[in-house]
Amino acid sequence: MEENKQEKYNDPFRATLTGIMDLFKKQVPIGTIGESERLEGKTAVVDGASSGLGFAIAVELASRGAKTVMVCRSGIPAKGEEVKKLSGNRDVHMLYVDFTDVTSIEKLTAELKAKFAPIDILVCNAGVVPNKARKTPQGLEEMFMVNYFSKFWYVTTLIENGSFTNLNPGILSCAPGEATLVDNDFRQGIHAGSLNKSIPRIIFISSESHRNPSVIKWDDFGKYTPYGIKQSMEHYGHNKLLLTTFAVELSRRLNPNGSTAASVFALCPGPVNSNIARESPKVFQPLLKLVFRMFFRSPKDAATPVIYFSVSKDMEGKPFDYLFLMNRKEVDSKALEPGNGRKLWEMSSALRKNL
Ligand SMILES: NC(=O)c1ccc[n+]([C@@H]2O[C@H](COP(=O)([O-])OP(=O)(O)OC[C@H]3O[C@@H](n4cnc5c(N)ncnc54)[C@H](OP(=O)(O)O)[C@@H]3O)[C@@H](O)[C@H]2O)c1
Repeated sequence: MEENKQEKYNDPFRATLTGIMDLFKKQVPIGTIGESERLEGKTAVVDGASSGLGFAIAVELASRGAKTVMVCRSGIPAKGEEVKKLSGNRDVHMLYVDFTDVTSIEKLTAELKAKFAPIDILVCNAGVVPNKARKTPQGLEEMFMVNYFSKFWYVTTLIENGSFTNLNPGILSCAPGEATLVDNDFRQGIHAGSLNKSIPRIIFISSESHRNPSVIKWDDFGKYTPYGIKQSMEHYGHNKLLLTTFAVELSRRLNPNGSTAASVFALCPGPVNSNIARESPKVFQPLLKLVFRMFFRSPKDAATPVIYFSVSKDMEGKPFDYLFLMNRKEVDSKALEPGNGRKLWEMSSALRKNL
């Protein structure tokens, strides 16, 4: 019998073990990425690019010829210079953001619009696993903000300010009832739209731990709730569930009536040898580093599904897809449920208005 999924990611050790075991499961890769699939003429933006997966994504995007914008809280300008060197592409740029702070997100979206629009590929990657709750400048909780709410704010603002290639800035102001993509389309990743023009690709780095929570905790939404290291992974899974639900709902709203105005993709990269466990107790860090180095995937390998979503011709015109490693999977049923998507959108919009 399959292990209760509610238990698989509940603490850092079980999450680590689950990640390693997942790597040994049978894989059915969705496809491969040819060397000839290039990104010259495209503008790609990736955040959290100072470290781990985000840095590797930036190197790969730049290596394939994209104008690459690294959105970072640290490592400016050194990490950008490294990406230039590793990729051989000089068209690499850096912008600052602190995703805990809406003032910083607003500044970033204005800068992206002014300097780098139109954007073809947006990779929303930054994420944290804090060892305790911390208040953001606006009084929200840091993990909620970085792992979910900043993405809602960032992406909807970029759409509304007309930063994406061939995407009507008014598209999100349609009545929610107009968002009628059939649920089945999400399951199958069906081709839905006209393929004549290039449409933007918006990619969210989620996690299989989004399947962990049994329910979405609507009563706690946006509230600052203290937690400690023992509850950290539980909160992480919940925020990744919010993120995945948002990704599905964003696709519904952008792509009503069987047309595709923008592709929205989400994925879990599997266990990555990155700095994600930086806040784990000091005493465990040498052991964790060893396990990460021995069993987890290199950031370059883990970036493969992201690059596939960014560049693959097979993904053209798709409204939505989700990958775990390179395997297509359905997202959790709670994320797929239209009522949850609508409610999350409404609560997130209300929170955004009131901040
Ligand atoms: N590692 C895994 O096993 C794993 C598995 C599944 C999913 N993921 C997801 O993969 C993504 C990348 O994580 P990673 O594993 O590469 O971890 P990482 O090495 O710790 O990188 C996280 C990135 O997020 C940035 N970041 C954190 N807080 C930020 C803030 N307030 N404002 C702006 N940027 C911020 C960090 O910037 P600084 O360097 O300045 O702190 C860093 O660049 C995350 O979404 C994570 O949840 C990771």
